[in-house]
Amino acid sequence: MFEPVAKNIFRWGTIDGETGVMMYSHLLLKDGKAVLIDPLAMPGLNRMIQILGKPEAVVMTVYPHLRGCSLISRQLNIPLFIPDIKVVEEDETVTRMFIDLYDMKHGQQYNESTELPLGIRAHNIAGRHEMALKFDDYLIVGDSAYGINGQLNFYPSGIWPDDSSSKARTTSDALIPLIRKTGAKGLLSGHMEDIPSGLQEMV
Ligand SMILES: [Fe+2]
Repeated sequence: MFEPVAKNIFRWGTIDGETGVMMYSHLLLKDGKAVLIDPLAMPGLNRMIQILGKPEAVVMTVYPHLRGCSLISRQLNIPLFIPDIKVVEEDETVTRMFIDLYDMKHGQQYNESTELPLGIRAHNIAGRHEMALKFDDYLIVGDSAYGINGQLNFYPSGIWPDDSSSKARTTSDALIPLIRKTGAKGLLSGHMEDIPSGLQEMV
């Protein structure tokens, strides 16, 4: 079920039946401890996680990645970290409704100053309702970027129509400074391919 990305990083995924796009989740390991990023629920998942490491937390990068985040954090009795950002720009109440509606009330909101397990650091992606997470040499994003045939792509290219690539340009303008600032060598994405190395040379 798990596909190795690096010696301490695994991923698992399935197809999104609405878009036809692959969805992926990541398991990060350090010092015998495990953190789950945007985990999709799968039969046997919880047992597999506990074999690999002691589950410490579930971290969600972006609100649309509800996936199995709430369920798995409750089943494993571990903290759920949800982004301290608004679901929509205008209205904080929408975020509260989202948290209530999708049973995430036990979660704690995190921001750039939160000390997440395994030394993970959060970075707000300016202008997007999404957090990027730095773990070791990798930057982890939910939706903003992904690999296609080994090339770095920015949302929504390859997923939704984007006349003259204007939306993808807006995303890349927000994310590229963060990729450079963090010095991440690879990208782990909630969709399609990871970029295991050479990230800085791509921006
Ligand atoms: Fe997504």
